[in-house]
Amino acid sequence: MRRAMAVFVTRRIPAEGLRVLSEAAGYAPSGVGRRGMRGAGWSPAPLTALSRRCRVQQWDSEEPVPRRELLAGVAGKEGLLCLLSDRIDGEVLDAAGPSLKVISTLSVGFDHLALDEIKKRGIRVGYTPDVLTDATAELTVALLLATCRRLLEAAAEVKTGGWTTWKPLWMCGYGLSGSTVGIIGLGRIGQAVARRLKPFGVKNFLYTGSQPKPESAAEFQAEFVSLTKLAQESDFIVVTCALTPDTQGMCNKNFFSRMKKTSVFINTSRGAVVNQEDLYDALVSGQIAAAGLDVTTPEPLPTDHPLLKLRNCVILPHIGSATYATRSTMAVLAADNLLAGLRGERMPHELLL
Ligand code: NDP
Ligand code: DGY
Repeated sequence: MRRAMAVFVTRRIPAEGLRVLSEAAGYAPSGVGRRGMRGAGWSPAPLTALSRRCRVQQWDSEEPVPRRELLAGVAGKEGLLCLLSDRIDGEVLDAAGPSLKVISTLSVGFDHLALDEIKKRGIRVGYTPDVLTDATAELTVALLLATCRRLLEAAAEVKTGGWTTWKPLWMCGYGLSGSTVGIIGLGRIGQAVARRLKPFGVKNFLYTGSQPKPESAAEFQAEFVSLTKLAQESDFIVVTCALTPDTQGMCNKNFFSRMKKTSVFINTSRGAVVNQEDLYDALVSGQIAAAGLDVTTPEPLPTDHPLLKLRNCVILPHIGSATYATRSTMAVLAADNLLAGLRGERMPHELLL
């Protein structure tokens, strides 16, 4: 009889995704009793006796799996379903051993995966593009509007008595109509953001990236420019690129110094694309008008972080893709990727290494 494929899941994931794994494992979702466990919820042994197909061990908690438990949990597994908060490096791969064949991440971003090490070991990788594009673009637009029209600051004034009367210049911000928007990374999410911003009356779209993308840019008549020109000419800058060695720290002192004093900076990609000290200085000195960040370094941002004290900085806890439907679809896709990879089949979304 063939041995079941052993899988480690590093977190409690939406039920729909777990159901896919459960079915592959040959037990009903209701049979996954340990999901109801309280506390850290470590499942010390495989969840249940299963069919030949799949045997799932899960860190059944809302909180990240401790490194020690990750190293132990992955040992001898063929499949790993992980999150963007799990650093999958050589140490994890060594702990898994040669049995590990597939890594499926519940994210489109893959900067947490040591791809060189993964490739060297011949491991296949699945990820979740497309299904979160709309939700993330929607959140990016919401963050942009909240930041440029000072929504959080204004709502706080209502609660604290700062709203004394209607005043001509009080709580004024910057509007999108007639503006120039610069997009760093006109990929899936960057394009979806531009598509949503266009009806607000944006006059010009600029974008930057590793190369021009005339086909993607045509819909917005977007102009490919250098990072410097984008910084100089944009009224709103939206960062939607991937985190790579090239983009790490890309938005730094030099970049912010080129921006207009009236410009607004939005980042929904990864925190490390921005040099946060330089951003802080730019916000405090009035070099730029405001910033909205869905992603930071580190995550979570410590509650005493200087950026949190600024009125012109809106910070969200990495909720770009956080709609129930999107997270559920991501979980199903991640499970499907994992199972297809384990069966040696074509994955719905495989990262080509
Ligand atoms: P895509 O691969 O479609 O887009 C990534 C973009 O990054 C590409 O357009 C690419 O441009 C660009 N890029 C790469 N290198 C550079 C560079 N040096 N300068 C400027 N741009 C560059 O990915 P998605 O749009 O699907 O996702 C983008 C990122 O958004 C993810 O990697 C993830 O980190 C983040 N994300 C964040 C979420 C959140 O919750 N806040 C949710 C989902 C994603 P080119 O092709 O020219 O290289
Ligand atoms: C991703 O998928 O990369 C996001 O950061 C979370 O959805």
